[in-house]
Amino acid sequence: ILVEKQGFRHFMVKEIYEQPGVVRTCLEAYLNHQWNPDSDQSPINLGIPTELYSDLEHIQIVACGTSWHAGLVGKYLLQELAQIHTNIEYASEFRYSPPPITANTLTIGITQSGETADTLAALAMVKERRENQPAKYQAKLLGITNRVDSSLASIVPDLIDTRAGIEIGVAATKSFIAQLMAFYFLALDLAYHRKTLSNVQIEEIITELRQLPAQIEIILESQERYIEELAHEFTETTDFIFVGRGINYPIALEGALKLKEISYIHAEGYPSGELKHGPIALLDAKVPVVAIAMPGKVYEKTLSNAQEAKARDSRLIGVIAMDDKEAAETFDELLPVPQVNELLSPVLTVIPLQLLSYHIAARRGLDVDQPRNLAKSVTVE
Ligand code: G6P
Repeated sequence: ILVEKQGFRHFMVKEIYEQPGVVRTCLEAYLNHQWNPDSDQSPINLGIPTELYSDLEHIQIVACGTSWHAGLVGKYLLQELAQIHTNIEYASEFRYSPPPITANTLTIGITQSGETADTLAALAMVKERRENQPAKYQAKLLGITNRVDSSLASIVPDLIDTRAGIEIGVAATKSFIAQLMAFYFLALDLAYHRKTLSNVQIEEIITELRQLPAQIEIILESQERYIEELAHEFTETTDFIFVGRGINYPIALEGALKLKEISYIHAEGYPSGELKHGPIALLDAKVPVVAIAMPGKVYEKTLSNAQEAKARDSRLIGVIAMDDKEAAETFDELLPVPQVNELLSPVLTVIPLQLLSYHIAARRGLDVDQPRNLAKSVTVE
């Protein structure tokens, strides 16, 4: 399949702009559009057998790179919405330090390419170790991938197709958003079957999910120019810290990963509450701090963590909700996104961070789509 840049300077920025469409495609494909709170079917139609859900007590997720970050968001969603104990492991760690075999466990492998050697090996190992075990220990496997025709399919028969379309930029953007969508649908489907949410609560979340494409468009339209300008100021910066809490902690990790992958700037993502246990020693006027501070359970705490960084003279960049005056006063630079349910906010908060790393790398004149030493999929160990 020939994929063109269609007037964009790089594939990465084209793929960033495709994200509203990707979310629309996922909503179209996986929501049961006839559903209402009085109906007796699931609102979600993932096309996977519900036997995967029966007697479920535990979920373990294995992945690498950006897919691991999506899995970490998934862990928060599965625990919060579906009340299932969930672990996430790097596939490369899981392979050599597998946890004890637990009963009634679903293993989810998440890989954009479906070809990452470590992820495939971890899944194959789960299968092998659980063979010949009593029924409740046998492997239940689910794959989340953007390439349903990949090698993943030969190990895991049941797949969720993330439908992001071919992604060319080595740094994952639209495929990440699509992976997040897969976890919203999976968590809601499980919540429906396990009755951990009422139908009315599920309907509310679905209504909010439907607003995401337009909200991403608002960010792209209102922020692009500003972020491009802001990026000029960081062409000489050598270190960045990203912080977030709760469901936005994975987005801090993802923001830092995107920046280091394509701009070669050293960047670390941290849970905000850990700032005081180490990274704060690095802070001074030369180290900007990007904090995700969306309204929700951890909002006040995150703002006070950001104040601590400010007291060390760091330039503070805040991913905040539009119209949040309190947060606007805390930060030096603002990356506002539409106000949204905290649980859904990762789909929005990651967008300005993708744009920020893109523009910093492009400004530095780097090969954004083919960064040095990296490959789109790592098919060797
Ligand atoms: C490589 C890519 C990353 C990707 C990771 C996992 O490192 O450069 O963008 O997140 O592999 O890839 P997967 O295809 O398994 O999601």
